[in-house]
Amino acid sequence: MIPSLRGMLRGLLTRGTEGRRRRHAIHKTAPVPGAAVAIVFFATGTLCFVFLGPLRSPPTPTTTSSSGKAAATACDATRGEWVHDPSLRPHYTNATCGFIQDYQNCMKHGKPSLEFLQWKWRPDAADAGCGELMERFDAARFFRAVRGRSILFVGDSLASSHVLSLVCTLSELETPTKRHSTGFEQWWFEAHDFAVSFFWTPFQIRWRLTSDGPESTAPGPARQGEVFAGPSDLHLDEPDERWMSAAKEHDYVVLSASHWFRRPAVYYRGGHVVGCHGCSAKDADNVTGTELSPEHAQRVAFRTVLRALARGEHGFEGTAVLRTVAPTHYEKGGWFDGGECPSTRPLGRDRTAEMVEPEAGFYRAQVEEFRAAAKEARRSGGAVRLRLMDVTGMMLRRPDGHPGRYGHGPGQHDGFDVDCLHWCLPGPIDVWNELLLQILDG
Ligand SMILES: *[C@@H]1O[C@H](CO)[C@@H](O)[C@H](O)[C@H]1NC(C)=O
Ligand SMILES: *[C@@H]1O[C@H](CO)[C@@H](O)[C@H](O)[C@H]1NC(C)=O
Repeated sequence: MIPSLRGMLRGLLTRGTEGRRRRHAIHKTAPVPGAAVAIVFFATGTLCFVFLGPLRSPPTPTTTSSSGKAAATACDATRGEWVHDPSLRPHYTNATCGFIQDYQNCMKHGKPSLEFLQWKWRPDAADAGCGELMERFDAARFFRAVRGRSILFVGDSLASSHVLSLVCTLSELETPTKRHSTGFEQWWFEAHDFAVSFFWTPFQIRWRLTSDGPESTAPGPARQGEVFAGPSDLHLDEPDERWMSAAKEHDYVVLSASHWFRRPAVYYRGGHVVGCHGCSAKDADNVTGTELSPEHAQRVAFRTVLRALARGEHGFEGTAVLRTVAPTHYEKGGWFDGGECPSTRPLGRDRTAEMVEPEAGFYRAQVEEFRAAAKEARRSGGAVRLRLMDVTGMMLRRPDGHPGRYGHGPGQHDGFDVDCLHWCLPGPIDVWNELLLQILDG
């Protein structure tokens, strides 16, 4: 399915699509040369991630901590530091949780040091109001908070990793039953009357593969290779009914999206083409729309989905959580030309954490759209609560938490060698469950 992926990606890059769109970026940032394309693949149950990181370009300095101050949460846990604690033990291992997928199983693939499991996030003391937050995750407390409820995660493989992190952590107290229903995966904790569901979509809004024809609907994760090769048609102003219509059956919905927006796409509003990204890519040649930036597309997509949820348009009455960008950490190249994430420690306070474009732009768009939607939700006085789960600043400081070379066994890498985008399980993304608990129990 993906043997010539590298060649294909290089082809896309040399057509200069990334360079062109940058000039159309809507948000003013320091100009950054270089290219970045991210793709996620599920091929016959195996996840293979391909990422084109920044090409030998200096990252754009971005202060995420100040702009990332959580909007509508009582506690701002986004500023703080990772503190070394050798006594820390993960809530689960690859031996106790059978849901860990191969590409996340850094223990199995021999990540040389497990020191990355010995860091605890400590929010700044100045941020009072965090209460017991970031104490060790308490599965019993979590189950008490969610008894009789259900949570739906909607997103790509990073959302899936969060789901598995939560499911594995809760498995300390109860091993769930796995179920499948059309398009959804579900883990059912019967004794605690709690269900976790996952719906795979890279975009949140209505989309389909351009090559599939106008009447088709979006493909599932099994066709990620084709989605990667793209382009896709993205209807920026229409929520994806496939999951949106199911949202009302859940008490919580956790949304996320970012890297796939870098893929070639044709953008629609009101059913009409308004622009495209990577227009020179195969199949998009006939599109004459203007180049629009992925950042802009993502901004409009989140605006669409967050506001639909906030207005309760699809009968949703629960809490919608936006989980912000989890940054990648490729150094000295991209995924395909020797980029690696060799760090073995988090970045300390003395180090400036920098986020590259377009991730920084995605992050700004997410936070700003969240604030606007939360304001609208408050104004309308409806039942829906909107919460921001801002993981960007803390994850930016964890270049050591990716699989790197240890996301696969020897000879198993399908088109990429080093994964500096996904996170090891167990690993630093387990802290997301602590943030989630704070939101759900708040
Ligand atoms: C778990 O990791 C260990 C190494 O720490 C490895 O030997 C073992 O095969 C792994 N087990 C599974 C089920 O992944
Ligand atoms: C472009 O449009 C022409 C005529 O409508 C069509 O025959 C051709 O297949 C299209 N090319 C692509 C790449 O979609």
